[in-house]
Amino acid sequence: MEQYIIKGGNPLVGEVEIGGAKNAALAILTAAIMTDETVFIENLPDVSDINVLLEAIAEIGATVERVDRHTVRINGSTIGAVSVDYEFIKKIRASYYLLGALLGKYKKAEVPLPGGCNIGSRPIDQHLKGFRALGAEVTIQHGAIMASASDLTGSHIFLDMVSVGATINIMMAAALAKGYTIIENAAKEPHVVDVANFLNSMGANIKGAGTDVIRIRGVESLHSTNYSIVPDMIEAGTYMCAAAATKGDILIKNVIPKHLEAITAKLVEIGCEVQEFDDSIRIIASKRLRRTHVKTLPYPGYPTDMQPQIAVTLALAEGTSIVTESIFENRFKYVDELSRMGSTIKVEGNTAIIDGVEKFTGARVSAPDLRAGAALVIAGLAAEGITTVDDIIYIQRGYEDFEGKLRSLGAEIEKVSTEKEIQKFKLRIG
Ligand code: UD1
Repeated sequence: MEQYIIKGGNPLVGEVEIGGAKNAALAILTAAIMTDETVFIENLPDVSDINVLLEAIAEIGATVERVDRHTVRINGSTIGAVSVDYEFIKKIRASYYLLGALLGKYKKAEVPLPGGCNIGSRPIDQHLKGFRALGAEVTIQHGAIMASASDLTGSHIFLDMVSVGATINIMMAAALAKGYTIIENAAKEPHVVDVANFLNSMGANIKGAGTDVIRIRGVESLHSTNYSIVPDMIEAGTYMCAAAATKGDILIKNVIPKHLEAITAKLVEIGCEVQEFDDSIRIIASKRLRRTHVKTLPYPGYPTDMQPQIAVTLALAEGTSIVTESIFENRFKYVDELSRMGSTIKVEGNTAIIDGVEKFTGARVSAPDLRAGAALVIAGLAAEGITTVDDIIYIQRGYEDFEGKLRSLGAEIEKVSTEKEIQKFKLRIG
């Protein structure tokens, strides 16, 4: 089992390049099979979620050609099945996007109920409600969602809550429905916009993505495109917090600073200096940070996927901070791990009350999910002594070459899988 071993205490200093957004790429790769023509996608992150999804797409018969680490060519004309295997779905929740894509293109899809990060119950009722509104018959049988329609017809859909997944899934199916669809209370996340832009580049007619009303005029078919995926705001935000927590100075390149505003605002509030450039952002943290309150909200609010990283940062800040998680009910599982490093955090319902400590001390901890795993790595980087992070398979789902990028910023971190490698690391760092 692979682990990270970290010797903390070095401020992270230098430059880091951000990859394409995992969550945009998951939807875009799925949408790519909605045409029979060849689609060329660039700026793909090389992370396990993406690689598993590509396998799932190939498994149903699409032709998937990895041109290089960050580029793929997909042709959906060879698809022979509209039924997706459970093995893939249980590994990545976002394979539920295959429902919208297959239903839109073939008017039929069979996809097992999703797995993914265990951060709450994560229902998909809004996705199904949207498909039904478009005229599909949707049932759940033997653990799978079966959706079919003789024809999909545009509809006026009100989402009961802001859902990224439901917005994207409905948008995909509606792109090839007959007539006009309006999605109200749509998610406004940058990756929703990226998926809409991608579909439009294939000939779809989608307007309003990025606002809470999306209007889709269905088209007959989609065509080939070349597309480059938007930078990953969560990867960028993670390095922003790493700079803050280690009192570092990082220039984060290939980002869209506008997407990072909620994170930037919090870091400025707690005493970091943040400089924004056209496509990069610099975070400087030279002194002890101050307390603040954070509440996760749909975009443009503070992202839930950045909640553990800011909590770790606040756990080292002066004073008492309150972090409220309003999107997922089970996203504080890392708190017990972090307390082993000396943090003082009390969770009550969906809030964490954080009494900042001067320092963490290294300990053996375990990543409970993707973002919490990244946050524990940040904690290890800031801690005195040695930290090992187990279950890094979660972290590899969403961060490309995390240890390599951190090392280039001066971190002492190694991916290890044997006791011998651990001893070697300890000997090397002295
Ligand atoms: C996506 C992201 C995830 C991020 C989340 C919120 C991907 C692959 N994942 O997840 O990293 O944390 O957005 O920004 O892009 N809900 C329902 N019924 C539904 C759908 C959602 O009740 O049918 C609830 C969820 O339980 C949650 C909230 O709505 O409380 C938001 O979920 P949603 O935006 O759908 O998250 P995901 O798309 O699953």
